[in-house]
Amino acid sequence: DAVELGTYDHYMQKEIFEQPDALANTLEMVGAAKSLQPGLFGADAEGLLKGVRQVLILACGTSWHAGLVARYWLEAIAGIPCAVEIASEYRYRESVPDPETLVVTISQSGETADTLAALQHAKALGMRRTLAVCNVPESSLVRETALRFITRAGPEIGVASTKAFTTQLAALYLLTLVMAKLRGRLDAAAEARELQALRHVPAAVQAVLALEPAIKTWAQLFGAKQHTLFLGRGRHYPIALEGALKLKEISYIHAEAYPAGELKHGPLALVDKEMPVIAVAPNDALLEKLKSNLQEVRARGGELFVFADADSEIADSEGVHVLRLPEHYGALSALLHVVPLQLLSYHVALVKGTDVDKPRNLAKSVTVE
Ligand code: G6P
Repeated sequence: DAVELGTYDHYMQKEIFEQPDALANTLEMVGAAKSLQPGLFGADAEGLLKGVRQVLILACGTSWHAGLVARYWLEAIAGIPCAVEIASEYRYRESVPDPETLVVTISQSGETADTLAALQHAKALGMRRTLAVCNVPESSLVRETALRFITRAGPEIGVASTKAFTTQLAALYLLTLVMAKLRGRLDAAAEARELQALRHVPAAVQAVLALEPAIKTWAQLFGAKQHTLFLGRGRHYPIALEGALKLKEISYIHAEAYPAGELKHGPLALVDKEMPVIAVAPNDALLEKLKSNLQEVRARGGELFVFADADSEIADSEGVHVLRLPEHYGALSALLHVVPLQLLSYHVALVKGTDVDKPRNLAKSVTVE
């Protein structure tokens, strides 16, 4: 491989630790900027983004999870309706097209067959406002969309996507802010605050990476487990999905993710002392509700592993392990909360001795249907 491992044992580990730089590069343009311009997404962006009635996001795998997070942002911050679809489903579904839709395709490689076909399907249905969020500038996907944002994660070798995901989130947050501004929902003071928060993202991720030693200790407890359940709420539900995907991809432990409020509608039946439950629990508006979901897990003997943050009031107790992220990061906390889940899956895979960078049966880029 042309990309050197350097001091790292695996590409996945290297790519997890490259995230502060990948994010700094992707967000380079906000460094000195006093304001956000639609031109970030291409020369005709202002014309194409204005008048958009809704957003349709199409992607697969980890990129689909980035889209799910973006839906929360686009609706809450930009006030624009947003649907997110798995590309392989959308391309074969009879849907109701609206030509004033912005079709956003998200892909690390830009070569995923289903994502390309879903884009072509949307275009054939008359949707001409298209945008690619992609890590490969010369990819097929980027050639086929009117607008583009190239994430600058650098080459990602590990099959399990890490730095591509967080840079996609950064790009989608920029899109949200630009859309909010075009729709008159972001005044100058709010814009300045958002730019400030974005500038600090690489340092905030760096601080989260310092949790690695504690996560390594937790990983030992997962080696003998067959199943795990991930819980999150709101924009952290897609982060729970991503944590579960990472764990199953590289450690082969069965993992499922649920929005925590749905626990009582099924998965609670599976909870016993053999089922560790991992909760994404930043201090947001849903924390109190999440806490009562966690009590339901404890009452059934489930062992809890909670990723809280500096000010979430959850304490360690019997069967409850708590790790705190150093900062509470508002709307962007989803971007920070995925990092410890990446580290957890990496260390569980090491405990299990799997081929971390090339997990069985999976490919980095799926270019056939
Ligand atoms: C494969 C990879 C995943 C990736 C998905 C979508 O399944 O193993 O890591 O998320 O493809 O890939 P893309 O390049 O379109 O983001």
